[in-house]
Amino acid sequence: MKVSIFGAGYVGLSFAACLAEAGHEVLCADADLARIEGLQRGLMPLHEPDLEALVAAGLAAGTLQFTADERTACLHGDVLFIVVNTPADAEGRVDLRHVMAVAAGIGRHRDREAVVVCKSTAPVGTADQVEAVLSGELSQRGAQLRIAVAANPEFLREGSAVRDCRRPDRVVIGSENPWAVDLLTRLYEPFIEDPTRQLLVMDRRSAELTKYAANAMLATRISFMNEMARLAEHAGADIEMVRRGIGADRRIGPDFLQAGAGYGGSCLAKDVRALRYAADRDGHALRILSAVEATNHEQKSRLFDLMTHHFEGRIAGKTIAVWGLAFKPDTDDMRDAPSLVLLERLWAAGARVQVYDPAAMPNARGLIGERDDVRWCDTAQEALQGADVLALVTEWAEFRRPDFAGIAKALRTPAIFDGRNVYDAAEVESAGIAYYGIGRGRSSLLH
Ligand SMILES: NC(=O)c1ccc[n+]([C@@H]2O[C@H](COP(=O)([O-])OP(=O)(O)OC[C@H]3O[C@@H](n4cnc5c(N)ncnc54)[C@H](O)[C@@H]3O)[C@@H](O)[C@H]2O)c1
Repeated sequence: MKVSIFGAGYVGLSFAACLAEAGHEVLCADADLARIEGLQRGLMPLHEPDLEALVAAGLAAGTLQFTADERTACLHGDVLFIVVNTPADAEGRVDLRHVMAVAAGIGRHRDREAVVVCKSTAPVGTADQVEAVLSGELSQRGAQLRIAVAANPEFLREGSAVRDCRRPDRVVIGSENPWAVDLLTRLYEPFIEDPTRQLLVMDRRSAELTKYAANAMLATRISFMNEMARLAEHAGADIEMVRRGIGADRRIGPDFLQAGAGYGGSCLAKDVRALRYAADRDGHALRILSAVEATNHEQKSRLFDLMTHHFEGRIAGKTIAVWGLAFKPDTDDMRDAPSLVLLERLWAAGARVQVYDPAAMPNARGLIGERDDVRWCDTAQEALQGADVLALVTEWAEFRRPDFAGIAKALRTPAIFDGRNVYDAAEVESAGIAYYGIGRGRSSLLH
């Protein structure tokens, strides 16, 4: 099938490459000319495991092509996916300009029937708006084309986007138009093993709300566990034991129960904010989500608070080694990363940082810029040299089994602040390093 994809970001590019791998003829468009020129030469604009090889294979096979020309993309596909960014402001108002710009472009250029699919995460009613913008453009030029608009939210996770595209837990198709449902069902066929379980067809508004409800639920689980972690700390219990204990219950399940330094990334925070804002505006205050956000806000300062306690308030002049900057492992995405809150708080308190991340250094450096109180390190080891203590913020695989004896030697006053609870406290302590985790019942004097 011929497919056009608008947006070559984390989602659009991964989706495009996977569709091409499955044999579809994919044209992926982006408004960012430099990004497209790079992609045409096989240069990746982002870090996502397995994606580079898949893009290269698609380019070589000719099933994947890139363009910055809106018209060409509007004319190519039988199905046209809108996968552009939908940022939300601090209050939760979602900016749909990019989505509507694509819709208007399709309305201006399209010369035959089409199924237009909104894959961007966007508030309930966005597909209706896309339809209105499209019809407006078509009627302005007197064109009468059969165009169906569907909502098809995406649930892939950065860091495993290719795997998630190839084997989705489920595909949600929001459309009551049999033609659109049939086309999308055929498009997704290569990725679906069990249609009764994985393929969910519903109306557009339910599909749009499903995406927000999913992210709100995931954020709620994390904030819930972070609250339990505070209680565990106070009560002398270990949240890691509690996590295993409740995760073994099939009604609860083991995923998204990690206590830590707060959730971040381009989706959870933005989508929770957007859902709460939209519900508030319509007079349906979502009290749970306000609490989820408040807890997460506080949680992002948790490592800093532990350090303040450790240094008895005297953080000025200290040097902190920071391992991990990206909002999660296996990505270079710095959007809403909890590391940024830690860095800001340390700098405001007069500390210096020595930072290292396996993939996010260029994005972090671009975001933060050069300053005297940060040293950008090439290795995890370099970040330790001459630092007072170590904070682990992102649990990349390369940080999971470190040489604790080496860490003890490199740090001036050996202490690890484990923001993701990946280390065994007893093992760390037996190397002569003080250990602080999140909710591990070892620092109950903190409260
Ligand atoms: N990143 C995730 O993990 C994830 C997961 C599920 C859903 N989503 C949703 O998917 C959407 C895309 O997210 P992302 O992380 O891929 O964003 P991104 O910022 O990585 O990529 C968006 C791309 O769209 C391009 N773009 C903007 N306007 C355009 C236009 N008019 N025409 C063509 N291209 C245009 C941008 O240049 C950019 O390259 C968002 O709505 C997001 O909420 C993201």
